[in-house]
Amino acid sequence: MAAPVRWFVMLCAGALALTAVPCLAADAADSDSVTVLVTYHSLSGSTEKMARAVAEGARAVPGVRVVLKRVGEVTGPDLFSSDAVIVGSPVYWSNMSGEVKTFFDNWQFKFGVFPEFKMRNKVGAAFATGGQVSGGKEVTMLTILAAMLGNQMIVVSGGGAFGASATTEGDSPGIDDKELADARDLGRRVAEVAAIIKRGARNNSKE
Ligand SMILES: Cc1cc2nc3c(=O)[nH]c(=O)nc-3n(C[C@H](O)[C@H](O)[C@H](O)COP(=O)(O)O)c2cc1C
Repeated sequence: MAAPVRWFVMLCAGALALTAVPCLAADAADSDSVTVLVTYHSLSGSTEKMARAVAEGARAVPGVRVVLKRVGEVTGPDLFSSDAVIVGSPVYWSNMSGEVKTFFDNWQFKFGVFPEFKMRNKVGAAFATGGQVSGGKEVTMLTILAAMLGNQMIVVSGGGAFGASATTEGDSPGIDDKELADARDLGRRVAEVAAIIKRGARNNSKE
């Protein structure tokens, strides 16, 4: 082989090796690690503060990668590459906010989850903030969980009976340490359950 051609072949082989190694590493990481998507809507920052605590709790579980995004920024690949999705909303008129409802509607309009049930068997959970103590936080979390159940997801709780929540107005301005601890607890529990399910699926496929 002429020298210039030999050099060209060696350069190509080197470049291929350099690009292939990180790809293989990424694939291995993907199959072993658990990805938790934490997504939320927040106008005045309370739900965002809870979202950061949820993300912190999930990140505390070894081998867990967390993606934290506003609902409007979530892409199809974010959804489909996640093992678990935790959705947070402020309470608007005793229910999830319009932005969060649009996010769920977009699972179909933008991402085409149905009829294949593309979110099937992923773990789902909810969190909410509301101005009043009894103003609809539990209804809000339950409607989020209902949307997930309709998509054949596996819903879990943590923090409270239906998820983590915080009261932000009136006698309870701001989010206190107990509410933040509940949010971290939710994130941790979801990550643990997602890891158990992923490990079980991997073991099943080996049998
Ligand atoms: C349009 C609108 C409707 C609301 N409705 C309720 C409600 O029904 N019950 C309640 O407890 N709080 C209600 N709130 C208060 C918010 O849920 C509360 O301030 C929340 O913590 C805001 O979250 P954010 O700071 O993440 O935007 C409402 C607020 C807005 C703007």
